[in-house]
Amino acid sequence: MSFDRPIKIAPSILSADFADFGREIRAIEDQGADWVHVDVMDGHFVPNLTFGPMAVKAFRKHVTTVMDVHLMIAPVDPFIDAYADAGTDILTAHVEAGPHIHRTLQAIRAAGMKAGVALNPGTPADAVAHLLDLADLVCVMTVNPGFGGQKFIDMTGKVRALRGMIGDRPVHIEIDGGVDPTTAPLVARAGADVLVAGSAVFKGGSVDAPEVYGENIRAIRGAVEMATGQRA
Ligand code: DX5
Ligand code: ZN
Repeated sequence: MSFDRPIKIAPSILSADFADFGREIRAIEDQGADWVHVDVMDGHFVPNLTFGPMAVKAFRKHVTTVMDVHLMIAPVDPFIDAYADAGTDILTAHVEAGPHIHRTLQAIRAAGMKAGVALNPGTPADAVAHLLDLADLVCVMTVNPGFGGQKFIDMTGKVRALRGMIGDRPVHIEIDGGVDPTTAPLVARAGADVLVAGSAVFKGGSVDAPEVYGENIRAIRGAVEMATGQRA
């Protein structure tokens, strides 16, 4: 996985049919998804539960792009090797998940994955100032994590600040929560290059009507291209 900056759309399978992940993953990739975003929740760090490493390993068989795993769990460190073994490309941990995020990012890279660090809406950009050489991605949450389909919280000031702090480093800025054709241009203009979208990609479609996923992805890309003049 090389570093590039055109906008990437990463549908979150949190909005997929939970009884049909294999076909859902193949459908979004066929319809133009750049990455597949997997939301892991533990019912402790966030008030919802999704799936663990065994499920993620099963998803891997269907992912041909990039498997982007967002851990909303605490603690993180005891599970890093299991997510590496599951075939994760990028493993993201929250800065709020424990006192040793620096060690966590080192351990993620040592396990052979790209390392991401996520920030809740209430956490300032400065929280990652000393982590930028250890991270391949900073995820800016634009909802309080735990559920799909929530209203976008404007974090464009934080995104702009992070892009400045990152400078020339090859670090992605990912936006997660409430991304749709209206909100995507705001964050793309501020310097984000990976857009996670759950409900805005899956709405109205299904594995039997996958072209709707394609239309939804193209609507986000089109809005970003129009606003930034950048290829998306
Ligand atoms: C929130 C998750 C998001 C979520 C995005 O806890 O991390 O990835 O699924 O869903 P939408 O796009 O529906 O806000
Ligand atoms: Zn997520």
